[in-house]
Amino acid sequence: MRVHAFAPGRVNLMGDHTDYLGGLVLPIALDRGTSVEGDTGGDTIELVSDQSARPASVPLRLAEADLAAIEPRWARLVAAVAHEVGPTEGLVGRVSSDLPIGAGLSSSASFEVAVALALGAGDPDADPHAEVRRLAQLCQAAEVRSTGVPSGIMDQLAALAGVAGHALRIDCHTLEITPVLLPDGLEIVVVPSGQTRSVASSAYGERRRVCEAAEREIGPLRQASLDDLVGLADPTRRRRARHVISENHRVDQTIAALGAGDVVGAGQLLGESHASLRDDFEVSTLTVDALVERLVIQPGVYGARMTGAGFGGCVVALTEPGALDEGWVVRASNGATCGRAARPSWPGTPRR
Ligand code: GLA
Repeated sequence: MRVHAFAPGRVNLMGDHTDYLGGLVLPIALDRGTSVEGDTGGDTIELVSDQSARPASVPLRLAEADLAAIEPRWARLVAAVAHEVGPTEGLVGRVSSDLPIGAGLSSSASFEVAVALALGAGDPDADPHAEVRRLAQLCQAAEVRSTGVPSGIMDQLAALAGVAGHALRIDCHTLEITPVLLPDGLEIVVVPSGQTRSVASSAYGERRRVCEAAEREIGPLRQASLDDLVGLADPTRRRRARHVISENHRVDQTIAALGAGDVVGAGQLLGESHASLRDDFEVSTLTVDALVERLVIQPGVYGARMTGAGFGGCVVALTEPGALDEGWVVRASNGATCGRAARPSWPGTPRR
């Protein structure tokens, strides 16, 4: 059978380093992403990629312990996804992507979701809400297993559930997804910093552990208020927790500002988020800080912040149309599609 799956990357407008603590996020599915095209059959998965000279060739059934031995590295992700999906037949095909790798736009989740769908993971007869969650969790598990980075579920959910013209408010505790209409007359611009990051080599896991230690002292940060911070004696723990608590609030504040047409207020919230990620969570870099500072003083720019895990990557800016002549304007797009079976209508897809 001929298959063609596509899954978008995402840019996160607000809510970083909150998902793995069951907090709130506000990502937007992009009109860029990963395609997997091929023919099913056989008992291996053979993929070539336009981003790697070396193909991936993995057996359909692979013991978990064998993952680390697989080369090239991107084939590990293929094997991990296959391990989670448990496909009944192999696939020979091609992967192509127009997402920059390591730019904080979720190229790996887009890859995982496209591969999973191409391997037949989607069940068109299942309840679409439950199916989005199941597929996202499956791809997240593959990512964690193959990279060792304890990442959250935002990126996979955004890749699956994106809605054109909307951001997605995701409650990462309940996994409830609510599309948020993006107002006209506003541009969301992604500007690469040129500094690529590797989450694996970053302090992502360490930040998560510190936050979990804070939760053991004062309870879930998603339910905490800034007043609860007095219960944290350790200053680093307190700053990390302050970021998470304030960032969760900023997600709903941003949604409220956008809904009220208060673009200046929304831009200000982006600025506060960047300061919090820079000073309290310490996941920005001098290069990214300099880019944010340069962008926000340009006429027509309401605000800008780093987006994603940090340690390099991209900046997202809210602007009046045409304000920036660098980066590219986001077109909020629908989530993943797969041409091997009718695409279920993912949650949030506007009903006809
Ligand atoms: C990466 C992870 C996500 C999320 C962001 C930070 O993109 O994959 O789960 O934690 O970082 O918000």
